[in-house]
Amino acid sequence: MEETKKRDQFGSRIGFILAAAGSAIGLGNIWKFPYITGENGGSAFIIVYLIAIALVGFPVMLSEFLIGRKAQKDAVNSFKTLAPGKPWYFTGYMGVVAAFMILSFYGVVAGWTITYTWEAVSGSLLSMDASQYPDHFVELISSPLKPILYQILFMVLTIAIVLGGVKKGIEKWSKILMPLLLVLLLIVVARSVTLEGASAGIEFLLKPDFSALTATSFLVALGHAFFSLSLGMGTMITYGSYLSKKENLPMAAVNVSIADTAIALLAGFAIFPAVFAFGMEAGGGPGLLFMTLPAVFQQLPLGTFFATIFFALVVIAALTSAISILEVPVAFFTEKFKWSRAKATWFLGIVITLVGMVASLSYGPWGGFTIGGKVFFDQLDFVASYILLPLGGFFIALFVAWGMKRKEAFEAAGYEEKSSFGSFWIFTLKFIAPILIIIVFLNSIGII
Ligand code: TRP
Repeated sequence: MEETKKRDQFGSRIGFILAAAGSAIGLGNIWKFPYITGENGGSAFIIVYLIAIALVGFPVMLSEFLIGRKAQKDAVNSFKTLAPGKPWYFTGYMGVVAAFMILSFYGVVAGWTITYTWEAVSGSLLSMDASQYPDHFVELISSPLKPILYQILFMVLTIAIVLGGVKKGIEKWSKILMPLLLVLLLIVVARSVTLEGASAGIEFLLKPDFSALTATSFLVALGHAFFSLSLGMGTMITYGSYLSKKENLPMAAVNVSIADTAIALLAGFAIFPAVFAFGMEAGGGPGLLFMTLPAVFQQLPLGTFFATIFFALVVIAALTSAISILEVPVAFFTEKFKWSRAKATWFLGIVITLVGMVASLSYGPWGGFTIGGKVFFDQLDFVASYILLPLGGFFIALFVAWGMKRKEAFEAAGYEEKSSFGSFWIFTLKFIAPILIIIVFLNSIGII
C-alpha cells in the first residue's frame, strides 16, 4: 500500500501571516534599521527604504511565496519540481547554505540581547556609570564563554519551536509572540514620544533632509530591504510551501511587507525621540542598541521596567526570525534525506550552534585569525548577506519573470490574466529588481 505522509500546513491565514511577519521582523528591524537610519540622516533615508520595499522587496516576496506554494516543496526541490532538468535549483542550494551561515551569527547577536535582558532585569545594566557602556558591550562580545552560553540558550529555544513542526511549533508560537512583541513595542513608543524634548527625534524621523543622502544610502536601503523582508534564501519559499491553494498571495505579501515596515518605523519611534530627548548621538552605528540605549534607559523614570521590556522584545523578534531561518535547511533535509523532523532539527541546530560559537570566539580570543582580512563572524555575515542573498534574490526574480510562462506566473500568484497589478509586478521582476539587485551586489563586492 502506498502511503505518502501528508505535508504539514499552516492552519489559518492569520497564522501564516504572523509566521511570515515573524520571520521578517527581527534584529534587522529593531537593531539595524534604526542605526542605519541614524547614520543616513533620518527621514530621507526612510523614504528611499520605502521605495526599495515597494519596487524590489514586495515583488520578490510574492515570487518566493508563489514558488513554494505551487511546488509544495522545500527551497531546493521547489525549483526542481517547477523546472525539471534546469539549473535553477542552484538558487535553492545557495539559500540553504546562506540560512546555515546567517543563523550561526544571528544566534550570537540574539544571545547578546538575552544577556542585556537579563542584566536589565537584575538591575546591573542600569547601575553602571553611563561612560562604561561602550566598554561593557565590547567586554561582553569578546568574552570567551559568556556570549556562547547565551547563544546556546537562544538556539535551544529556536530548536524547541522548530521541533514542534509548522502548525504546532512555528505557527503556534508566532501567534503568541507577535502580538506580544507589538504590545511591548507600543509601550516603549508611548513612553519615548511623550518625553520632554522628544519632538527633535520625531522631526528627525518625519522631516526629510535630502542633503543627508549619499549614493551609498541607496545601496544600504536596498540591501536592508532584502534582509529585513527575509528574502533571497528561500525562507518565504519554504513558508509558502505550507500554504493551501486557497490563499491570496499578493494580499499576503502586501500584509507582510507592511507589517515589517511598520515595526521598523515603530522601532525608530521607540528609539530616536528618547535618544534626542536625552541629548545622545543618533548616528552611533551598530552600538546604538547596546551602548547608547542603556544610557537612555538609565535617565528614564522606571528605566529598569522599560529596559527590560525593550530588550525582551528584541529577543522575541529574533526568535521568530531564527525559527524561519532554521526551517529552510530542516525542510530540505527532511525531504532530501527522508530524515524525521526531530533528527534534522537537532542535527542542523547543533551544527549551526557550533559554527556560531566559532563566530562568537572570533570577536574575542580567536580575533587574530582572519579570512580575507575579516574575522570569521564578519566574513560569514559578508558572504551570506552581501553575496548569497542578493544572488538568490536575483535568480528568484529571473526565474519567475523569465523562467516561467507569464500565464503560469499570473495563475500561480493568483492574478487575473489582464490584471494591471500583475503586469506591473512582472515588469519590476523582469527589469527593475534584477538591475537594482545587481548594482547593490557589484557594490558590495567592491566592483563599483
Ligand atoms: N528578516 C530577519 C530580520 O530582519 C532576518 C531573517 C530571517 C532573514 N530570515 C531571513 C534574513 C532570510 C535574510 C534571509 O532580522
